[in-house]
This record gives sequence, C-alpha cells and structure tokens, in this order.
Amino acid sequence: MKPEIVIFPDPQTLAQEAADRFVQLARAKVAEGDRLSVALSGGSTPAPLYRRLAQAPLREAIPWQRVHLFWGDERCVPPQHPESNFGRAKEILIDHLSIPAGNVHRIRGELEPEAAALACAVGLHAFFGRAWPRFDLVLLGLGADGHTASLFPGSPILEETTRSVVPVKAQYQGRPAWRVTLTLPAINAARQVIFLVTGASKADVLQTVLMGPQTLPAQRVRPKSGQLTWLVDAEAARLIREHLPLTVEV
Ligand code: 6PG
Repeated sequence: MKPEIVIFPDPQTLAQEAADRFVQLARAKVAEGDRLSVALSGGSTPAPLYRRLAQAPLREAIPWQRVHLFWGDERCVPPQHPESNFGRAKEILIDHLSIPAGNVHRIRGELEPEAAALACAVGLHAFFGRAWPRFDLVLLGLGADGHTASLFPGSPILEETTRSVVPVKAQYQGRPAWRVTLTLPAINAARQVIFLVTGASKADVLQTVLMGPQTLPAQRVRPKSGQLTWLVDAEAARLIREHLPLTVEV
C-alpha cells in the first residue's frame, strides 16, 4: 500500500484531522463488536491531538470503554516524572476520560529497563493473545535525527526480529536515556500507522525520510499489511510539498 501523505496549514488542523480519524476508527471497531488498540506516541507533537480527544465533542464521541491505550515507547522514569510519556498523556488526555483503568496499558517506566520491557511484553501477549501484537493504530512522531519511538539511528535493536518490545539506551535532546520501545516488527504488524510531524525543525529530516536514501529508522516503518500515513504541517513539509505527487493539501 502506498503511504498517504497529507499536508495541513498548521498543527491545529492536523490535530483535528488526526482526532477525527481516531474517532472514526474507534467507532468502526466497536460497530464490528471489537475493541480498538492504539499505541500512543510520546514527545510533544501529539499533545494537540490528545487535547482534542479529551474535550467535547470528541470525548463523548468515542466509546472509551472499548478503547485500549498502549505506548510505542516510554522513558524509564516513574509515571509522575515530567518526562514520562504516560504521565504526559495522563495529564492531557486520560484524566479527562471515563476510560476503565484496565484499558490503560502503560509501560512501567519505574522498573529497571529490562524488567519494564518484559512486563510490557507479557501484557501485550495477554492482550493480543498471540506472539506479535497487531495494533489497530500506532501513532508515531519523528525525531530530528530520523528516529521514531525509541528506534534511533545505528541502534542494534533496529535489527530485532524476535522481541516485540525491548529496552534501549539513547541520547536525544537531553531526554532520559534509558527507554523501552516497540520494535520494528511490532510496529509493522499494525493495521494503521500514522506519523504526526509538525514544525520547521522537522523539514530537513522529513525530506530525507520521504525522498532521501533509506538510512533512517523512520524509513523502516512499513506496515506489512497496513496503511502508513504521514500527517504533516506546512512548516515540516516545506522541502517536500512540490515534489510528492501523492501529497494531498488540506
Ligand atoms: C519520545 C517519542 C519520540 C518522539 C520524537 C519526536 O518518547 O520522545 O517516542 O519518538 O516522538 O522524538 O518528539 P517531538 O514530538 O517532541 O518532536
């Protein structure tokens, strides 16, 4: 399936589209009598999306009792730590929802990295009832160095083929070094993967990822039998917008 690339004038309209897609997906899964499994992205980019999902009218439009929240990666810090991806999502989104506690599957960053990864893997296996998780939706951000989740350039875990979630140590913008991350096979098993990319600081890396040599971790996100979508704003798309015929401008 060809990646879908959609350019938005600003982060707010991008967040609205991402939120609308989230609602549609959740309602479609519930209409099928199923539940929605989503791996949330960390970092700052998804915050406007999470805020929209936490507010009326979208909050009431989503059947949260049938939505299960996971994380694509987590920093190895306690949930109350300001750098916790779960902690941030809890503050912006989860605390505003009537979602059952059992539907929130945080990665236990307070544990030692290997123990946190193992606990996460046990939880994924219990939820999906199979060796590999198959998320309905994985939300991802893009680092200025081309990383996504906690899959960084040159990391040996990029070649991981047997574990769905692993501990990793990486330096990026002064953020906590030890992390736990989904691996590429786990991400690429998803039904849908949506990258959210905003801001001028991502223009160079987005051009490389979408048009350059295949050298960066984000370029290895290729869902085996799922849809890959890039929702990007005009600032991040500055260097690609006139080059990609598949690009849709909103
Ligand atoms: C994390 C994220 C990471 C993030 C990118 C982009 O835990 O930090 O998983 O992959 O999505 O680094 O971060 P920003 O959205 O803050 O630019």
